[in-house]
Amino acid sequence: MRILGIETSCDETAAAVVDDGQIMLSNVIASSVDLHTVYGGVVPEIAARSHLEVITPVIEQALQEAKTDWEQIDAIGVTKGPGLGGSLLIGVMTAKTLAIAKNKPLFPVNHVEAHIYANYITQTPLQGYQLPTGPPSLPLLALIVSGGHSHLIYLKTHSDYEVIGRTHDDAVGEAFDKVAKIIGLPYPGGPSIAKAAQDGNPGAIKLPKAQMPGKYDFSFSGLKTAVLRATQAAAGKDFTFPSYELSPLLSDIQKSDIAASFQQTALQMLIDKLSLAVEDYSPASVIIGGGVAANLRLREMAKAQIATEVGYTDIKLCTDNAAMIAALAFYKSQQVEPTNPYILEIDPNQSM
Ligand code: KG4
Ligand code: ZN
Repeated sequence: MRILGIETSCDETAAAVVDDGQIMLSNVIASSVDLHTVYGGVVPEIAARSHLEVITPVIEQALQEAKTDWEQIDAIGVTKGPGLGGSLLIGVMTAKTLAIAKNKPLFPVNHVEAHIYANYITQTPLQGYQLPTGPPSLPLLALIVSGGHSHLIYLKTHSDYEVIGRTHDDAVGEAFDKVAKIIGLPYPGGPSIAKAAQDGNPGAIKLPKAQMPGKYDFSFSGLKTAVLRATQAAAGKDFTFPSYELSPLLSDIQKSDIAASFQQTALQMLIDKLSLAVEDYSPASVIIGGGVAANLRLREMAKAQIATEVGYTDIKLCTDNAAMIAALAFYKSQQVEPTNPYILEIDPNQSM
């Protein structure tokens, strides 16, 4: 079954063609990240406008690279939520229009759930991808960590899963983005912090790890505030000093030490909860997905501290893409009837 996936939940406009949820024939991503960098974060109006400008050429390119015409497409998958309302609307409106015009079944999917299914893509004729050698076995424990989500999910079967842990405030990627902003590193903060941390001492600053009532739950906002206080102290200022004036007062070494200490603490919080869940659930496989899974230090720590082998997909499929949307839409197509395109609506706050 050949599915066209469409993803527009944040600042990436993406389209991809995937066979049977497994073979990726194309994966096209147009990011508006450069337009947001000057603002230090995603500006929803700018993201929505750039989706509108590029969505048609992105879909055309995805079909072309997959050497596929519309007759060969069996269904369309699209992100319904969660995400930015204006951004989701462009993808969903486009998918509905195409489903009606081309008379194709339409499968709306949840973006966070789709991050898991990026790991089910195991073959591609495309160059430059390092894919898992086989699909993860079930039951599967998945840590999905990105700019919008920090979820621990236990998947018994493709239609039966449970979110066993989630963040009570900021997502971990969001904390990377905010800390980068405080110390004057460019957006997106994940890669900037990871790079600066290479020259820093992860033990330079003692930072607290939040204790949550839920055994597998996360919290990152206290850590972000602790980093702000430590940065104010490093700059010789008190807690009333504005965060946006701090970065010019810091040396490169101070920035690297803060980046390394924050990264170490944030990643250790993830590893601690994942370890607990691995012990309690004894899953057949464990994966980490989402943008933060691109972090190589996280991968090292997981290898050293988690008893079971942890699986990852290519970094280009950890961050937002439409191949994962097409992959999940395939599994949905095996379980549920297609959605009526005339009544499909976006769900910006969709939970799993
Ligand atoms: O999955 P994704 O592309 O978008 C969302 O669904 O949110 O994840 C983007 C997030 C950003 O917060 C970014 O800072 C973070 O992933 N990120 C990283 C790294 N690369 C991207 N965080 C830590 N280390 C990285 N190397
Ligand atoms: Zn995402």
